[in-house]
Amino acid sequence: MNHFELQGGELTCEDVPLSAIAAEVGTPVYVYSSATLERHYTVLRESLVDAGLGDPLIAFAVKANSNVAVLRTLAQLGAGADVVSEGEIRRALAAGVPPERIVFSGVGKTEAEVAFAMQTGVAEINVESEPELHMVNGVAQLMGARAAVAIRVNPDVAAGGHAKISTGKADNKFGVSLAEAERLYANAANMAGVRPVGVACHIGSQITDLAPLEAAFGKMRSLVERLRAEGHDVERLDLGGGLGVPYFNQPEPPAPAAYAAMIARTMQGLDDIQYAFEPGRMIAANAGVLVARVLHVNARPEGRRFLVLDAAMNDLLRPAMYDAYHDIRPVKPRDGDPVIYDVVGPVCETGDTFTRDRALPPLEAGDLIAFMSAGAYGAAMASEYNSRLLAPEVLVRGAEWAIVRPRPSYDDMLGRERPAPWF
Ligand code: LLP
Repeated sequence: MNHFELQGGELTCEDVPLSAIAAEVGTPVYVYSSATLERHYTVLRESLVDAGLGDPLIAFAVKANSNVAVLRTLAQLGAGADVVSEGEIRRALAAGVPPERIVFSGVGKTEAEVAFAMQTGVAEINVESEPELHMVNGVAQLMGARAAVAIRVNPDVAAGGHAKISTGKADNKFGVSLAEAERLYANAANMAGVRPVGVACHIGSQITDLAPLEAAFGKMRSLVERLRAEGHDVERLDLGGGLGVPYFNQPEPPAPAAYAAMIARTMQGLDDIQYAFEPGRMIAANAGVLVARVLHVNARPEGRRFLVLDAAMNDLLRPAMYDAYHDIRPVKPRDGDPVIYDVVGPVCETGDTFTRDRALPPLEAGDLIAFMSAGAYGAAMASEYNSRLLAPEVLVRGAEWAIVRPRPSYDDMLGRERPAPWF
C-alpha cells in the first residue's frame, strides 16, 4: 500500500498535489512519502515480531535509496542500515543510524573502508570470500581490535526478477559455498583480528515467490546447526533482503506476514539467534515516484507515437538496464480513450526508452506524469549522463513537504572539474 492517490482529480503524495511540487521545484523530480516508508517498515517489523522471530535487526539496504532524509525517517523508527561502501556508512551515520545497527556487506571492500567501518563500530562486517577474511583480520590486528564478522554464504538457489539482480547462484560473484562457510567460520574463530558472530545470505532482488527463499533459509538453518555442533557460537543469522514489490504487471509478491510465517516455520526450534534482514525495495520502491513533464507528443505519420519526457534514463535507469516495468500515471488524468505511446527521454540513445506500446490516458505537451514505484533504485542509480543535472528529491509528510536534495546548478556541475595544468 502507498500514499499516492487521486484526490480531486489529481495525483497527490499524502496531502500534497504533485503538481504543486512540480510547479515550485521543476521537473524531473523524485517525491517520497514518509507515511509509506513508515508503513512498510512497521508492517515488516510487526510481521517478524508477531511470527515469534524475537527482536530482529532490520537494516535498510541503503543502496536502494540513500537520501539521508529517507534514511533518517527509517532510523527514527529504529531501522538499521545495510551498507556496501564507506559513502553509505557515512550516509547512515549522518542520518542518525547507530553504528551497532549498521551491517557492512559487499564483495569488494577496501582496507580503508574496513578500517573506517571498525572505527565507526559497525555491528558486523559480512565477509564474502577467504581473501577478504584475511584482509579484515589483518586490518583489525593493525588497529589492535577484533572485528565482528558474519560469513556471507551463497546458498546456490536461483531467485530474483532479472539475471542482473540474481545473487544466490553458485556461479555469481557473491559469498562462499556452504562447505566453504563452515571451513572459513572455523578459521575465523582462530584468528586474532576477527570474531565470527554469524552467517548471512542474500539470494536476489525482486523475488515474488517464497519457495527459493525457503530453500535458501533451510540451508542456512542447517549450516547454523552444523556450526554449533562443531562448537562454534553463532549469534546472528542475516537473511538478507530481496522480497519483491508489485510493479503492477507482475505477480503479487508475498505479504510480509507470509514471509515472516515461512521463516518462523523454517527456523522452528533454532534457539538463541538474532535475525537480521536487509530489505531495500520492499520498504522504498512504492514510497517514491519520479514526476516528469511531457515535452511533446511526436506522432509519426507511419504510426508510432512517442511521448517525449523531460526525464531520461539517467534519472531512472531501471527500464533501460533491466527492462523494468514502471506504471506511468498522469498527474491530472484527462478524459478520453487510452492512446498507445512509446515513452522516451531526451538522451541520445535508443536505450533511453521507458516503455513501448503502453496504453495511457491521452496526454499533451506540458502534462505531468509520474513513474510509480520509483523510490528504490531510482535516484540512487541516477547519473549525469548527457550532462543532465541530477533530479532533486522531495520528502512529503502529511501536508508538509521539503526539498531534501536540491537540483544542482550548472555551476555546481562544472565547478567539480579542474583544468589540467598545461591548458
Ligand atoms: N542485501 C544485499 C547484500 C544486497 O545485495 C541487496 C541488493 C539488498 C540487501 C537489498 O535487496 P532488496 O531488498 O532491495 O531486493 N538495482 C536493481 C536491484 C539491485 C539489488 C542489489 N542488491 C534494481 O533496480 O532492480
